[in-house]
Amino acid sequence: MNSKTQVVEALAKVLPAEITAEQITKLIEKPKTSDLGDYAFPTFILAKTMHKAPKMIAEELVGQMDQDGFEKIVNTGAYINFFLDKSSFSDAVLKDVLKEQENYGNQNEGNGGNVPIDMSSPNIAKPMSMGHLRSTVIGNSIAKIISKLGYQPIKINHLGDWGTQFGKLIVGYKMWGSKEEVEEDPINNLLKYYVRFHKEAEDKPELDDEARAWFKKMEDGDKEALALWTWFRSLSLSEFQKIYTRLGVEFDSFNGEAFYNDKMDAVIDTLEEKNLLQESQGAEIVDLSDLDLSPALIKKTDGATLYITRDLAAAIYRKNTYKFVKSLYVVGSEQSEHFKKLKAVLKMMGYDWSDDIHHIEFGLITNGGKKLSTRKGRVILLENVLNDAVDLAKKQIEEKNPDLKNKDQVAEAVGVGAVVFHDLKNERRDSFDFNLEEVVRFEGETGPYVQYTNARALSILRKAGDVNFDGDLSLDDEQAWDTLKLIQEFPEVLSRAGRIYEPSVIAKYALKLAKSFNQYYAHSKILTEDAGLVARLSLVKSVTTVLQISLGLLGVKAPEEM
Ligand code: ARG
Repeated sequence: MNSKTQVVEALAKVLPAEITAEQITKLIEKPKTSDLGDYAFPTFILAKTMHKAPKMIAEELVGQMDQDGFEKIVNTGAYINFFLDKSSFSDAVLKDVLKEQENYGNQNEGNGGNVPIDMSSPNIAKPMSMGHLRSTVIGNSIAKIISKLGYQPIKINHLGDWGTQFGKLIVGYKMWGSKEEVEEDPINNLLKYYVRFHKEAEDKPELDDEARAWFKKMEDGDKEALALWTWFRSLSLSEFQKIYTRLGVEFDSFNGEAFYNDKMDAVIDTLEEKNLLQESQGAEIVDLSDLDLSPALIKKTDGATLYITRDLAAAIYRKNTYKFVKSLYVVGSEQSEHFKKLKAVLKMMGYDWSDDIHHIEFGLITNGGKKLSTRKGRVILLENVLNDAVDLAKKQIEEKNPDLKNKDQVAEAVGVGAVVFHDLKNERRDSFDFNLEEVVRFEGETGPYVQYTNARALSILRKAGDVNFDGDLSLDDEQAWDTLKLIQEFPEVLSRAGRIYEPSVIAKYALKLAKSFNQYYAHSKILTEDAGLVARLSLVKSVTTVLQISLGLLGVKAPEEM
């Protein structure tokens, strides 16, 4: 039985019948310090009905309660303090983890329901930004979290692969580029043409007309234009793929913006049927002023469709294709207005499932306090970040563990893991400044610290050799208590992380568990041959299991040695 349920049941037996179990559950607190027990129940609300001072009520109730299954139940003033029985608690928790292993914490809240997750979604022909990194790792982690909660995530890379910028790119490429140059270093050279286009177009506005004409050709299905576009797209994708491989992220779909080209007429027809479209300065818009939103621009003067039009088509496509129970979009906070409009228009079109769409927003990564910008050349290139992090990790390994086998492989896992963990430990809406040195430290609140703790626990288990974990796993050791309680809390932590779509809940939890285990390790002789040996080793084993689950949920590898 869940230990909180145990407390609720003990209370329900002595409290007035009109107080429901649900109310009791809500009132139970977790004391800040362990001398006040594991749970506490405040009696203040009973004073009125019972016509007594809260302190007296607490005293009386404690007298009436059956202490069976608890170490003790006492009162401190108006509070009833419950001290769980450490032996039976540890035996139950450790047995549970050893039995469930990597499935520990699994829940079936989602009942297999489909949840498309729009994530990563970089723009073709540009380097992937730190913002796209955030979207990739946050989306990947949410997918893993909700999958453990019983949902079926569908990871969609909504590539930015259509729009006027491709007209510019074609013009730039034709004027200054060559096939050889592009093939040598696709993304950087395509970016170069794009940046140069913007510079030169400042003085030569006719370049913009040309770009528009090329984009029009693309929209009209012109062979040459489409061949160039297809080529740019596939080169970009294989570059992106290198990063996805390093991050260990896979997608279920790469249906990007272009995929919806033939699906927008239907959207526009419906908007027309429902009388939602208005003309404004030659363009077609949906007025959203009632909702204090700027209008949704559906079709431009020249007939070209827009970002939101494609997103409308995509949302409807996803509903029809996946029959989703929820649909998530992991996109930076700067697009929050866009998603409000998207949901509003869908709602006006009569799609009530618009309420199941959630914009999972996240904050900016700055560098030296400054906003990054591709156009201004202020970029942090993701590949460089990963390479630098891996180099730093390698250096640390050389210092700490020069004889380690597979050094390169471990350095890759630690370096990449450090970058990912650093991103995810921040609450997603918070902005943060990027500092590589801080990211890769082995100590402090970092991914390598968690990985290292796990490797250390594994090495204890290796030293212990073959262990038979059957039998009594009660551990009434004060030092182990914190760690045990954290392990027991994991399922609750997981469900909270899923409810608020917040990988940082898992990252912070992993840090706490690692810290608590390291404290335990510093204060107890785990491998001493005495009656408690197996119970202590089962705690070590459970710690590695839960640390590995947590790292896994964040998309961070857990090397066995480092
Ligand atoms: N490509 C866009 C960008 O880089 C992000 C797309 C997000 N997804 C969406 N369905 N709008 O800003």
